[in-house]
Amino acid sequence: MKSRTVLITGGAGYIGSHACLELLQADFNVVVVDNLSNSKLESLTRVQQITGKTLTFYQADIRDKAALSDIFAKEKPSTVIHFAGLKAVGESVEQPLLYYHNNVFGTLVLTEVMDEAEVRQLVFSSSATVYGESDSPQYTEDFPLGAINPYGRSKAMIEDILRDLSIADKNKPHKTPWKIALLRYFNPIGAHESGLIGEDPNGIPNNLMPYVSQVAIGKLEQLSVFGDDYPTRDGTGVRDYIHVVDLVKGHLKAIEALNSDIFSSGSCKAYNLGTGQGYSVLEIINTFESVTGKTINYKISPRRSGDLAECFANPNLALKELNWQVEKNLKDMIADTWNWQTKNPQGYN
Ligand code: NAD
Ligand code: UD1
Repeated sequence: MKSRTVLITGGAGYIGSHACLELLQADFNVVVVDNLSNSKLESLTRVQQITGKTLTFYQADIRDKAALSDIFAKEKPSTVIHFAGLKAVGESVEQPLLYYHNNVFGTLVLTEVMDEAEVRQLVFSSSATVYGESDSPQYTEDFPLGAINPYGRSKAMIEDILRDLSIADKNKPHKTPWKIALLRYFNPIGAHESGLIGEDPNGIPNNLMPYVSQVAIGKLEQLSVFGDDYPTRDGTGVRDYIHVVDLVKGHLKAIEALNSDIFSSGSCKAYNLGTGQGYSVLEIINTFESVTGKTINYKISPRRSGDLAECFANPNLALKELNWQVEKNLKDMIADTWNWQTKNPQGYN
């Protein structure tokens, strides 16, 4: 029988810690490799506290091939979920080499080690940011790709590398074929219902939801709404926000699919993970106010460069092939964000 060990790169981070929790609850053995460059070990302490189960943690960089090979030899995972990566768009424009080195080179090292260890099942954290401009705001997986910043391009390059790898090794009789799910996340928000784990951004948040919740708790003074003259229903940007717990459940469904007929002869396939429903910035603010009873101090500011007017998922392929569907609505996402924020005003510190 195949091992039930899943190796999770970047498992101490925001999405990774929620994935560890769901995997432990589903009785997988969990091995985390994280260099803690953007996370704290406390997240995993709390995951173990919530589940009453233990996981194995290695503080290592995925670019350290020797360390990674040792971990694979010792732990013998059957599948890898690859979250490790840097994700700040602005920083990626300032430091493209850092982003390509960490994200692209890191994935090359990881896949080399996986290949050598004959572990050829991979779930990869991609992003809706890989899509290019399109005529329709609702994205399906076959839309043309065309990321517009180094972070997004690092994800698109990794997708290309993984597709090439799966094609190259598909018909080599001496090799087990690669089975790779590229999961394109829309906008993950929210936190586990316990309020013990959640998103803990360094410094001033770039993304809307952590910014709004830090204004609500008084850490930040005022939210800037980036543009109210977009061709959307109220002029502000529309996005597909998805609860992080629904999102990580998509990873468990992807693991099931990798072991099913859908991937039987090996392949590399992309899936959107979003709700299929878009909300504007003003709708987020209004819903946040009604769920929490807090007033959000905001002002209308100029558009942020690089922002699209509207973008949401067509999640039908994930429903059809992964049998995955979201369960939580926007109010749940906001209530859980606020629960985490109020219980941990300083994050994990
Ligand atoms: P995060 O920063 O909280 O988690 C990433 C984790 O990877 C961190 O714990 C960090 O310490 C670790 N890490 C980074 N580089 C590493 C390396 N070289 N070796 C070992 N560990 C390393 O980010 P997140 O929000 O949990 O995102 C997880 C993944 O999902 C990332 O790849 C990100 O690009 C992708 N993604 C995130 C979002 C989002 O909005 N959060 C959207 C789309 C895609
Ligand atoms: C951003 C990243 C994208 C990444 C995604 C998820 C950019 C240009 N894109 O996308 O690569 O995959 O996060 O992490 O950074 N907004 C405000 N005020 C704020 C912050 C945001 O009005 O202070 C607006 C934005 O203009 C947008 C919406 O809120 O309309 C959502 O923004 P954000 O949370 O940053 O996500 P994305 O822009 O979708």
